[in-house]
Amino acid sequence: PRTLTFLGIESSCDDTAAAIVRAGRGAPEILSNVVDGQVDLHAAFGGVVPEIAARAHTEKLDLCVMQALDQAGLTLRDVDGVAVTAGPGLIGGVLAGVMCAKGIAAGAGLPLVGVNHLAGHALTPRLTDGLAFPYLMLLVSGGHCQFLLVRGVDEFTRLGGTIDDAPGEAFDKTAKLLALPQPGGPMVEREARTGDAGRFRLPRPLMDRPGCDMSFSGLKTAVLRTRDALIAEHGGLRVADRTDLCAGFQAAVADVLAEKSRRAIAQYLALSPAVPAFAVAGGVAANQTIRAALEQVAAEAGLRFVAPPLRLCTDNAAMIAWAGIERFRIGLTDDMTLAARPRWPL
Ligand code: KG4
Ligand code: ZN
Repeated sequence: PRTLTFLGIESSCDDTAAAIVRAGRGAPEILSNVVDGQVDLHAAFGGVVPEIAARAHTEKLDLCVMQALDQAGLTLRDVDGVAVTAGPGLIGGVLAGVMCAKGIAAGAGLPLVGVNHLAGHALTPRLTDGLAFPYLMLLVSGGHCQFLLVRGVDEFTRLGGTIDDAPGEAFDKTAKLLALPQPGGPMVEREARTGDAGRFRLPRPLMDRPGCDMSFSGLKTAVLRTRDALIAEHGGLRVADRTDLCAGFQAAVADVLAEKSRRAIAQYLALSPAVPAFAVAGGVAANQTIRAALEQVAAEAGLRFVAPPLRLCTDNAAMIAWAGIERFRIGLTDDMTLAARPRWPL
């Protein structure tokens, strides 16, 4: 195939990102991958504030694009197309990204490709590991939790997912309940390392229901109740209370994800793919305990396990540039009518 160099732009949540990806005959190359996070801006509010996020994206997008080009040693003249997250996400941020991409595409006379953020995550294992279709993907982040059968660049089947909160959200809320800083996932994981996962038996919601739907909001409530009981009993949280609760919570999430993965794998294997593979993406896939549990489930079923490096698991624009290349190659491009969509199921 012809060598293509794409600029990717991502601004659907709280990371402003721009990246350059080049793909031709060999393995694709990430020439730059700039991510400007907004954690500090939202820290005081205990969650992402959409208005603040949108404003920060608007202020940072052009700078991130310049940086991505600089780091790749390129100018817009070397770029073959502009890919941008067109949803789903916080609409102010998505709009900022789409407008930025349209301006660049129009000004430089480049093709424009709108990318679904979830498709960006779902196609990442092809960028990092050259996975062939079809493969099974568990997308597990702060906003999403679903099993996807990835059948093609634009062909996804959702096998199941959370019916309420995403696990990353549960990690973040657990951290908040235990007065740990945000983002909560890495903090809870760190606390859990020295904790006893067996001390508090937290619920495994929907475990006995068939299929691979999941629920995490009850788990969060259980953490709240356990915390309040401990505070009532001891007048506060002791160090071991916190570490044990984090370990118990993390073990419950890992158990649910592992069991539901077994079921999703069974559904996937019924299609008898030539090279069966199970891939994960999303920030929660960075969790070592969860990753190890999923890896074991894949090994038991004889599947290749693919977990992209952390910086490509969490929100980034390299995945958007790559998805843009994949779409462009099969003739899927957009024009100035490309709309920003707050909701956009795959
Ligand atoms: O994919 P991501 O960067 O953004 C989206 O949500 O789309 O994922 C961020 C989420 C946050 O909820 C964060 O707490 C969680 O992933 N996370 C983790 C870990 N690192 C990040 N959760 C558990 N363990 C971790 N080590
Ligand atoms: Zn994401």
